[in-house]
Order: sequence, then C-alpha cells, then structure tokens
Amino acid sequence: MIIRPRRLRRNEVIRNMVAETAVNPDALVYPMFVVEGTGVKEEIPSMPNQFRFSIDEILKELESCVALGIKSILLFGIPNHKDEMATSAYDKNGIVQRAVRAIKAKFPSLYVITDVCLCEYMSHGHCGIIKDGDVDNDPTLELLAKTAVSQVAAGADMVAPSDMMDGHITALREALDNAGFTNTPIMGYSAKFASAYYGPFRDAADSAPHFGNRKSYQMDVRNGREALHEVELDLEECADIVMVKPGLAFLDVLRQTAEISNVPVAVYNVSGEYSMVKAAAKMGWIDEKSIIRENMIAFKRAGADIIITYHAKEILENKIL
Ligand code: PBG
Ligand code: ZN
Repeated sequence: MIIRPRRLRRNEVIRNMVAETAVNPDALVYPMFVVEGTGVKEEIPSMPNQFRFSIDEILKELESCVALGIKSILLFGIPNHKDEMATSAYDKNGIVQRAVRAIKAKFPSLYVITDVCLCEYMSHGHCGIIKDGDVDNDPTLELLAKTAVSQVAAGADMVAPSDMMDGHITALREALDNAGFTNTPIMGYSAKFASAYYGPFRDAADSAPHFGNRKSYQMDVRNGREALHEVELDLEECADIVMVKPGLAFLDVLRQTAEISNVPVAVYNVSGEYSMVKAAAKMGWIDEKSIIRENMIAFKRAGADIIITYHAKEILENKIL
C-alpha cells in the first residue's frame, strides 16, 4: 500500500496543519428578541438559554455579549399591539426602532441587523396583508419597505427581509435609496423554506399564523432547483448578501448557492436546529460542544460566509470553534 491518508492524521499538529475549514468568529450573528416593558428577561420555553428581553435588559445582556466578542446581532421585535396592517412594524416608536436607538447609543460599533417582516406585527400572524385568504404580494411590499426605512432611520446597520414576497429586494432598495440610505446593505432571506424547524421561533416571537400556513410564500422543502432561482432573483435585485434557511437540512442548497453567488452567503441555523441540540444534550445523549462545533463547520464547509446562530454567545464563551 502506497497511499495511506492516515499519515496526515497522526497527531494534532499535522491535523491542524491540513485542516481545510475554519469558522470565523467575526462572522457569527446572534439573533435576539426584544419585547415591550422593563425588567423583562423571560426564557423561551422551547429554546433553553434564549430570552425575550425588554430594552433595559437587552442592554445589560449585550454588555456580556460584546465583552465576549459578539460583533453583530439580528434583532426581532415582539410588539404589544398587533393589527391587520402591522402598523407597529413601521412605527417610529415601535419596539425595534426604540431598541435599535438604545442599542446603537450604548454600543455604537455593535453591528445591528434588523429582521424585516410583518408576521410578529399582524393580528393573524402571516407575513403580509391578507386578501381572499392569502398574502397579497404587492401591497405587502410597501409595508415591508416602510418597515425597513424606519428601522434604518432608527440606526439599523443592515436589514434582512424574511418575508419571501416576490420583488422584496427591489422594493426595499428603492425605498432605502429614496430615503438617502444608499449605503445600507440588504441581506435577503433568499432561499427560505416553509420549514417545521421554525416552530420554537414562532413560540418565541409569538408569530405563528392563526390560520393556514406559509406555504404560499415560503418555499417547498422538496425544491432545490427553485431555491437557486430564488437566489438568482435576489442577486439580480442586487441583494448585498444572500441567505439559505434553515441550514442543516438544506446544506445541498447552501453549497449550490455558494457556487453561483457573487456576494457573501449567509446561513440561518434556525430555532428548531438549536432546540434539537439543546434537548438531546439535556438528555445526555450527545456531547453538546462537539455537536455545535461540527454543525458550524458543516455550514462553513458547505460554503457559508456568515452564520446566524443562537449558539453564537456560547460558542465564544466556551471557545467552541
Ligand atoms: C419571520 C421569521 C421566522 C424566522 C425568522 N424570521 C419565522 C417564520 O418565517 O415563520 C425563523 C427563525 C428561526 O426559526 O430561528 N418571518
Ligand atoms: Zn414573517
């Protein structure tokens, strides 16, 4: 035998020398939930160690996050008031707008990305305006654009539309440019699947649809080719970053997206993926830190530049990478 791949696995020095993949801690984005009120730090039952914070509490939490090296957060708002036009989503004094102002005032160099969607703000929990029992695409674009502009006016560094409406990148780009925000990047949730992995998030954000499901706008999990079409469309509409979501069950789509994209690629390691790790770890069935590391490496190996993950803080805290 002449070819012996084990020669390069004999000790840690050589293994590290030939390692093909390294996860960049600066490319981790930490998703966080902000609610109305003061003194609120409420653990999300289906997402152990993830919380809904009121603005005063998120500021406290961010002190430790920033100290650990968290560079960027993805912010979701949970408003008190919901209606059929999602008015709290684009209210100058909405929960996200006030949170962003407070966060950027205290942590000017923390990079704040805001989620642009309407489901948390709609009385029915769908991601857009309902007409004849379905989400009406084009009028929804106007509300999404207003939401993005108001978030950036409050100080958001980047917006991330997760609505899956057709034409959403163009709608946001035009509105942001018209408002003078030509330098604010848009990260498109480009290939976002109608996935059961969002279950815990919907508990966290109180955003489950009250009737039906999201299959008329989010993608069918069976379709990989269509996912690439969605990515191409977001690229044509000049998305600054494209995203694949969820991650682990869609690594093929992530790989293919990385191959066709001429902009950075993000992956969203979603709530259900996080909760499954936490649940199995709690049972003592898996080695949690090794599993987290392996998952992050899988995203990187598949082609992700940016990893959005609820594990971000514990990764830095426990030096898991
Ligand atoms: C809202 C939104 C969702 C997620 C991000 N933005 C839920 C959904 O589309 O139902 C999922 C995030 C997660 O599961 O961690 N449109
Ligand atoms: Zn939504």
